[in-house]
Amino acid sequence: MTANSHNYSKILLAWYDQNGRDLPWRNTRDPYKIWLSEIILQQTRVDQGMAYYFAFTDQFKTVKDLANAPQEAVLKTWQGLGYYSRARNLHATAQEIAFNRNGEFPKSAKELKELKGVGPYTSAAIASIAFGEVIPVVDGNVYRWITRLFGIELPIDQKDGQKAVQEIVEAIIPHDRPADFNQAMMDFGATLCSQKKPNCEACPFKQYCIATENQLTDILPIKAKKTKVQTVYLNYFVLEHKKQIIMKQRPDSGIWAGLNDFPLIESDQKIEETQLIDQAEAKFIFSEGKLLSVSPQMKHLLSHRKLLAQFYWIQLHTPPEYLPEDHYWCAIEDLDKKPLPKLIENYWKTR
Ligand code: ADE
Repeated sequence: MTANSHNYSKILLAWYDQNGRDLPWRNTRDPYKIWLSEIILQQTRVDQGMAYYFAFTDQFKTVKDLANAPQEAVLKTWQGLGYYSRARNLHATAQEIAFNRNGEFPKSAKELKELKGVGPYTSAAIASIAFGEVIPVVDGNVYRWITRLFGIELPIDQKDGQKAVQEIVEAIIPHDRPADFNQAMMDFGATLCSQKKPNCEACPFKQYCIATENQLTDILPIKAKKTKVQTVYLNYFVLEHKKQIIMKQRPDSGIWAGLNDFPLIESDQKIEETQLIDQAEAKFIFSEGKLLSVSPQMKHLLSHRKLLAQFYWIQLHTPPEYLPEDHYWCAIEDLDKKPLPKLIENYWKTR
């Protein structure tokens, strides 16, 4: 059976009206709050993002409050969400809106996209939800739904697959309820039409779905390139002298940008303990340390990398004469006041 574009949106919206999630950013039209929620949800699941949404809206009630906050306070509130460049962009955009645009967010997806940290998906989400623009969001949820429903076997990590999906949702999006339609696609993909074990029995599209009819649900959507996960060993050194520890501020880009961790030797293979300590002595210019503890190996998964971390706590008899760039001494009791990657925080709590 086929349905016209009007029917697809009607079926989806009817499902959403019954089953849509009651989420806190759905009870407001305040562009600041909608922008906040969309930035938080960029690489974060709704159940995890919720607490952060409350923390941010509680602590920074307006875009001006966020703009005026010290960067460290913003990073601290963001702590645990990962991808810290998002937090820096969030702060920069709050400042742009508060100081250069009189506290007002632009109203179209095209203009919103000029803001730092706001890409095609986020600009479409904000423009439709806060301002009612008729523009579809397209992400993994949407690719899943559309490729399955229409049996599209073009790869979604390549231009032709993306174009095919884009054209379909542009044709389907209803002009009277674009915000609900977009959020319906998000909920539908996150709950019913999920990657693993989609609930096809309960699906309102089951009689129209080409993937169901042809048993393609497990293989759609198709990706041309499989992502390869690389293993990285993080050998951290907790170098202590007189109740102080050497810490390091990470660079402004890359993972954990701007957060604080410890002197580190990275390797792509496991390094044996004595060899590792020799390397650390050479790299961080210390000698005569006493190894007090070695943590169990801690695993941390990122999209393209598996991080395996171990922490070597060494009491230094004499401190190094100079510290490498970006390293500094920090009193042990002050350490958890610094913005830390989740992995470091976990280690610190359980050490
Ligand atoms: N993911 C991204 N934006 C979202 C939203 N507004 N609601 C639910 N999930 C989302």
